[in-house]
Amino acid sequence: MTVVSVAQALAGKFPEGGEVTVRGWVRTVRGSAALAFVNVSDGSGFAPIQAVVADGLSNFDEVKRLTPGCSVIVTGTLVKSQGKGQSFEIQASAVEVVGWVEDPLTYPIQPKPMSPEFLREVAHLRPRTNLFGAVTRIRNCLSQAVHRYFHEREFCWISTPIITTSDAEGAGQMFRVSTLDMANLPRDGAGNVDFSRDFFGKETFLTVSGQLNVEAYALALSKVYTFGPTFRAENSHTTRHLAEFWMVEPEMAFADLAEDARVAEDFLKYLFKAVLNERADDMAFIAERVQKDAITRLEKFIEAPFERIEYTDAIALLQKSGKKFDYPVEWGLDLQTEHERWLTEEHVGRPVVVTNYPEHFKAFYMRLNDDGKTVAAMDVLAPGIGEIIGGSQREERLDILDARMAQFGLDPAHYQWYRDFRRYGSVPHAGFGLGFERLVVYVCGLSNIRDAIAYPRAPGSAEF
Ligand code: 4AD
Repeated sequence: MTVVSVAQALAGKFPEGGEVTVRGWVRTVRGSAALAFVNVSDGSGFAPIQAVVADGLSNFDEVKRLTPGCSVIVTGTLVKSQGKGQSFEIQASAVEVVGWVEDPLTYPIQPKPMSPEFLREVAHLRPRTNLFGAVTRIRNCLSQAVHRYFHEREFCWISTPIITTSDAEGAGQMFRVSTLDMANLPRDGAGNVDFSRDFFGKETFLTVSGQLNVEAYALALSKVYTFGPTFRAENSHTTRHLAEFWMVEPEMAFADLAEDARVAEDFLKYLFKAVLNERADDMAFIAERVQKDAITRLEKFIEAPFERIEYTDAIALLQKSGKKFDYPVEWGLDLQTEHERWLTEEHVGRPVVVTNYPEHFKAFYMRLNDDGKTVAAMDVLAPGIGEIIGGSQREERLDILDARMAQFGLDPAHYQWYRDFRRYGSVPHAGFGLGFERLVVYVCGLSNIRDAIAYPRAPGSAEF
């Protein structure tokens, strides 16, 4: 028995006329009194394979009772298919029913388009649909390409911690980790919670970013990156925010902001090329059913050089645009999504890197520019999504870093180790963070980030 994946069988990886076995779940069953056509998917590629079952089979009656979702093992001869759009099919010599669907009428995954809202309620079963199968394979392809990109360029992958004491972004959006009895919290003389009696002996949180930890490794191994889950307790009920999302964060010693932007552009283009090359079947489905220009816009993205605009110039352009925005446009205020979209979609019509933002609303670790008013920060904005990457050159001068931490009211006691990099062989360095689900949203043309991750975590939502 040669067990093969459906994708390989359809790709002609096995000799025509040979015997193969596929294992998977039934998508659809059609047929007549004498023949049954059973479409079987094992998720290895977009298309299911058709098994043609004749009534001579000893359990033909059983096969006719199959419904979507049943699990089966099909053995038979691989033959060229006469059917439209199918390369090969299996003339079945045996169909073993491994698991029945208990109640086909209440099985949530039906062979018809279902709304993403409904499917979010059955997140544990949605990978069986065409859409979530495609999104999952595309996400996997992007993850593999992330590692390949960095590996090919001598970056070292660092696994940074999830439990931490420091607020990497200084924005106070951290989830607390504690083993203390909430109903009976130990308190010190001043009435503050006594975290010395907690598991780690101090107050700990889920990380908002691996950046501070990965900087340490950049200042020893030169080119590094972290790729893992990050957590933000921001109460954002938007289609662009998750409480738990994955971030790719490269960090490079001896790099400035211009080099940072160059790598960000090269990296994104590499990822899009990988997905177009490796997931053509899933992208064709996305283009047909989700986003008409899904393929062409990635192709355009790959070809277009990113525009670079300084924040100060971006403000002037927005003010001169004559466009009515909901949020004010003024030097010193952050850009809102509507501003970002105007810049990238209407003004330049391709991705834009906005640089050198006012220092007061950007993170404490970003390098202060000579004007004393701006920091060497960048946001990469993409048509159709807005901000997808945020990065900066880091402040490598200890005195300025200390002043910035004081300005942001951060307790230096929590950042002693981070200050050490500036005390021992400090060098200019830079990095960025790519929100991985925002990337998946963009590639798959999704309208909600909750569909870009297997089990979305958002305010009021932590099922499964
Ligand atoms: O701009 P952010 O906050 O930057 C950092 O965390 C830096 N430490 C990165 C670095 O320089 N190493 O976040 C980076 C990216 C954003 O551009 C966005 O794509 C994504 O992370 N992001 C979110 N994605 C989903 N849900 C959220 N709540 C997100 N917050 C940020």
